Formats: sequence, C-alpha cells, structure tokens
Amino acid sequence: MRHSLAAAFVIAAAPALGQATQDFPEGTIAVAPRAAVQARDFMVVAAHPLASRAGYDVLAAGGSAADAAVAVQAMLTLVEPQSSGLGGGGFLLHWDAASAELTTYDARERAPLAAGPEYWLDAEGAPVAFWDAVVGGRSVGVPGTPLLLETIHARHGRLPWGDLFAAAIASAEAGFPVSARLAGAIANARALDRFAPARELFFDADGAPLAEGAVMRNRALAASLRTLAAEGAAPFHSGAIARDILATVRGAENPGMLSMQDMESYRVIARDPVCMDYRGHRVCGMGPPSSGALTVGQILGMLEGVDLRALGPGPQSTHLFLEAARLAFADRALYMADADFVDMPEGLLDRAYLADRAALIDPATSMGVAAPGTPPWEEARARAPHTDPEHGGTTHFVIVDGDGNMVSATTTIEQGFGSRLMTGGFLLNNELTDFARAPMADGRPVANRVEGGKRPRSSMSPTIVLRDGAPVILLGSPGGAAIIHYTAQAIIAMLDWDLDPQAATALAHAVTFNGPVSIEATPDAEARAEALAARGHEVTVRDLNSGLHIIRITDDGLLGGADPRREGRAMGD
Ligand code: GLY
Repeated sequence: MRHSLAAAFVIAAAPALGQATQDFPEGTIAVAPRAAVQARDFMVVAAHPLASRAGYDVLAAGGSAADAAVAVQAMLTLVEPQSSGLGGGGFLLHWDAASAELTTYDARERAPLAAGPEYWLDAEGAPVAFWDAVVGGRSVGVPGTPLLLETIHARHGRLPWGDLFAAAIASAEAGFPVSARLAGAIANARALDRFAPARELFFDADGAPLAEGAVMRNRALAASLRTLAAEGAAPFHSGAIARDILATVRGAENPGMLSMQDMESYRVIARDPVCMDYRGHRVCGMGPPSSGALTVGQILGMLEGVDLRALGPGPQSTHLFLEAARLAFADRALYMADADFVDMPEGLLDRAYLADRAALIDPATSMGVAAPGTPPWEEARARAPHTDPEHGGTTHFVIVDGDGNMVSATTTIEQGFGSRLMTGGFLLNNELTDFARAPMADGRPVANRVEGGKRPRSSMSPTIVLRDGAPVILLGSPGGAAIIHYTAQAIIAMLDWDLDPQAATALAHAVTFNGPVSIEATPDAEARAEALAARGHEVTVRDLNSGLHIIRITDDGLLGGADPRREGRAMGD
C-alpha cells in the first residue's frame, strides 16, 4: 500500500535541533565540524588558501565581488589546475546590490559548429568508451572562462583589470608548494604523463609525480595571464592563444575538429535565473544548459511537504531525500539539456506536478528505479534518457564584497586534469564528454546528444538563496552529478536544521542517480547502510568528496564555511 509523503514525519519524529551537530544522531556527521568563519564587511571562500587570499586582498583594496572573482579564478588556474582554469568553462551568479538584480552567466564550453550527433560514435556506430573519449583533442570544447572573467569585470568590476592578475602571475613565477590534494591527484591521474607539457609541469625530472610540498613553477601560465591582463580575452578567441589551442586540439591523438570560427563566435550568455520557493526562501541558480537549479529545485519542491525539521537528519530523512532525488534524476535524464537546441518542458518546477511526483514516495520503502514524469508538456514522451555517470574536476567559490555585491560561481575543466592537453600553461577541458555519447535510444533522440555549437548538460549548481528579495545564502560544490545532492542537502541543513554554513558542510552524504545508493564512508557507515537497506535501497559505501563553499549573510554579519574534505578556506574582514 502507498503511504502519503505527509505521513513520513509521523513515523520518526525527532527532537527539534539547533546548530550543534553534536546533538545529531550518530553517523550523520562525516567530518568533525569546526567553527564557521565570521566577518563584518566582506568574505571569500575558495578551494585553496592562495585563491582565497588573492580574493581577500582584492576585496580589502576596495574591489568588487566581480574583481575578486577574477583574481580567485586566475589563482585557481595555477594552484588547483586539476579542477578549473583558463581552458575550461563555468557558470557564475552575480548579485548587484544597487539594482537588486540577480544575473546568471553561462560560460559553458561549446561543441564545434561542425559536430553532429555521431560525434562520439566509432566506425561501427557504437559509442566510444568513456576514457577513450576523455583523453586527447576530441573532448575539448571552446573554453569560456577567460571571456567570463572579462564580461563580469566589464559589467561589475571596479579595480583596473590588469591588476587583478598580479597575485597569480607572481605565484606562477615564484612557485608555490604543491598541496596534498594536488599531489594525490597527480599521482592518481590516468594518462597524464603521456603528454609532454603535462609531464614537464606535474612530474619531476625522473618522471615521478610531484609530491606534497614540492615547488611548482608555471612560467607558461604566467605568460598567458600577462596576455590576458594586457589584452583581455580576445587572444583566446581570435589571436595567438586561440591558434595554439586549435593546433593542440587538432594535432593531438584522438584529434578534435575545433576551428577558428568556433573560437571567434563563442559568447558568454547572461540568462534568467531558475528559482524555486522553499521554506519561505527563494532558491535561485543556473538554468539550462545546467541541470543544477532544475534538479535541486525539484528535490526541494518534492520535500517541501515533509516536516524535515521534526524528522531531523538520520535514516528517514535520508530515505525521503534519496527518493526525491530518484524522481528528479529520472526527469533530468529525459528532459534536461541545452534549451537553445532542444525544447524542454516548462512545468518541471510546477507545484502541482511536483506534488504528484512526491505522492509516489513511500515513506517506508524505496521505489527502486523511478520513471520520468510527464510535466505539463505535450512532447513529454518523445525523448530517450541520458543517464551516463558524470565525474568531476570542478571548483566552487563564493564572494561578498563590502557593498553587498555577491558572486556564487562553479567552474570546471570536467575530469580532474581535463583532456590532459595543455596550451600556455593551462589544461584544456574534456567537457564534450558531458554530452550523451549515444545520440539515440530505442529509436528516440536523447536530449543531451551532441549538436554543432551546443553546450553539454551540466550538473553545476551555483546557488543564491534569497529571503524577502535579498540574498541570505551563497553556496555550491564540485562533485560531478553529486553536486546536486550536496547542494540540496546543504540547503536543507541550513533552512530545516538551522545549521551554520560550516556545520552544513560536515553532514555525511548519500547520493543516488536513480539506481543504487552510495553513502559516504564514515565510521558509522555500516549502521547507516543497514538502515537504508531496511528501506529497500541497494547501498554501497564510498568516499563522497564534496567541496561545499558557503557564505551565510545574517543581520550580524557574514558566516563562511569551507568543506573540511578539501583544502578550501573562508577569509573575511
Ligand atoms: N563537468 C561537470 C559538470 O558540468 O557538471
């Protein structure tokens, strides 16, 4: 018998919870929480202390949030090269305090104009294997990050453009100590040492991966940053750097077909935010080509009717969260893609539709694999789903400046170390493997198939949560498709369970992409796994490496949280 979702909180009522995670049931905390960082005027949270420092110095000098974002991204290209950089793309949310305007910038990489649905099929018409697709030139899309930085600076910047690169150029020339995370990433990277520029940067003279603490200099990147500082993004789209990118992509093993026309015609697009109401707040994020805001919004919309505050964190909340995620990922697989190329239903966040979907959730037993729904849209059954797993080499940063302007940005080169190809000291993305490699299934087209000039579907979920028309939370995370779960869970942690942003990052994760469930490896993982298995989930235990970076804007100032699973830092004043 089906139970109504509203009955869920009756089954496992828990005491009301405050901000102290030590009150939480055993096993719900993955990492010992530390105190949130407090500041009065401005704050930056980024994935590496040098990146946070670069942003902090810009803000302390009176720079805007957009200025600081330029400095942070330039530094991340150097110190967290495996995750993001000038050879990649991303999405950036900007809040303008004076006009109370939220803009979402789409700097997603783009497929070659000459590409078609057969792009990822081999000579026999079969989709190429994932890793065969990743490595080499064919996976590289037109990078968007340099033009994103130029665009946000032109619209929202205050300090001189060229000055914003000084810290990254100085560190690239003087060198910086390789972090534990970067050293581990190099040591574990597939095929990285096959390519001379990557071998020379990331390995020592004997061919050993650089160890933690080794000094890495990147003079080629310093030169690229000098060019960007002096000439803006133009050389990346029509000048010498564009020519180098094309030569690298077209001359590599597994060559790509990017052309100068692809580079020159690339645009950063300002799009309307996608927003969902939740617990008296408005949760806003990036619409297509990202699936982030729609899928986070669906999960929250389906859980709005559940008294999660009364339930508290624990197996019952996790069960309901996972069921909502199944339903949302079923819709994501079928419908979500670059809406400039494929029609998408408008009703994916429709309240009545989400209430119908939520009614499918049994509070006692998992539905297993969810079927996609039929949101108000007549073509709903004409599509085939894209359910390939996604992997993440991605970063998230959040910034508030002294005037209340804000940035929440997720940027990426897709896999850790992207395509492995390098130009000018930066790695080139493999974003085109975020497309479905099979363009058709069961005789129906896949929405996220390759098309010329299209942007691949993303999971990146840079988010700004508003209350009464003003931002109160900035957040997001790396983590491939699990970005969606990490972001949705952190929102629930703060809005339902009153956790501060640092404590919200410490909750143990559970994810499903509408199949088996993965739960985070914690000392109590076995007990959590049993509790979910008792509700019918197929569970495995593994590392779930979120990189949540959060700022909460309160009446008393700013509170910052940096995910303790990674190396990020919150800094403010
Ligand atoms: N490449 C990761 C994402 O866009 O979700």
